[in-house]
Amino acid sequence: MDTLECIYTRRSIRKYVDIPVEWELVGRVVEAGTLAPTAGNLQEFRFIVVTDESKRKAIAEASLQQYWMEQAPVIIVACAETKRPKQFYGLRGERLYTIQNVAAGCENMLLAAHHYGLGACWVGAFDEVALKRILSIPDYARPHAIITLGYPDEVVPMPQKYKIENLVYLQRYHNRIKNIHTVLGVFSPNIAAAVAATKHAIDKHAASFVEKIKHTVSTMKDKMKSRHGKYKH
Ligand SMILES: Cc1cc2nc3c(=O)[nH]c(=O)nc-3n(C[C@H](O)[C@H](O)[C@H](O)COP(=O)(O)O)c2cc1C
Repeated sequence: MDTLECIYTRRSIRKYVDIPVEWELVGRVVEAGTLAPTAGNLQEFRFIVVTDESKRKAIAEASLQQYWMEQAPVIIVACAETKRPKQFYGLRGERLYTIQNVAAGCENMLLAAHHYGLGACWVGAFDEVALKRILSIPDYARPHAIITLGYPDEVVPMPQKYKIENLVYLQRYHNRIKNIHTVLGVFSPNIAAAVAATKHAIDKHAASFVEKIKHTVSTMKDKMKSRHGKYKH
């Protein structure tokens, strides 16, 4: 999947198949998070990967009872440490850059998840104090976002998005571009194309979805068989 297709067709996924995600894929997704741009390349984000069932349940509870989250076999909690950004950039570093760094990491993880055929959702509504207690997050770190991760059990159409013309100004604030195509020319990523790309991807993913799960299950079975074999000898 190329980068733009990945951006256009990513959706928030809130239903997951009850099978684990291979560690290698979890690693790839988190790695993508760590590779995001950060102010001064300070990389003061930390990602907690949670697979423990009781912890996942507690996190869903702490996320204002968003119980759908429990289904996700993996939950990644993205945190920021503020000390060094504050040292380097003062209030702006502490209050703005830390948030932007983690947000960039989260978007990278959402896109990487989609790239690997996984579903993910960004969750921002949670009780910070409860989450810090559940995951032993120290005082000098703050959880900013939760990313749920797993094999998707739903196909989500593109939700309503504003037209580009409503969100993009030219040269100065409020100066709307009447015909965006005169500015973006043939490269215009117009919404119709995005919707078509989404539809195409949904069809494609739906078709390969069952195959993916079958493949995962059979890989897991093979691994278990080979482990079992090793124990025997
Ligand atoms: C900062 C932030 C917080 C969010 N919090 C939640 C949340 O608590 N629960 C949830 O189900 N979705 C949450 N979302 C996902 C949004 O609902 C979703 O991105 C939006 O509806 C657009 O859908 P899309 O991601 O498929 O484009 C959050 C997204 C962001 C960026």
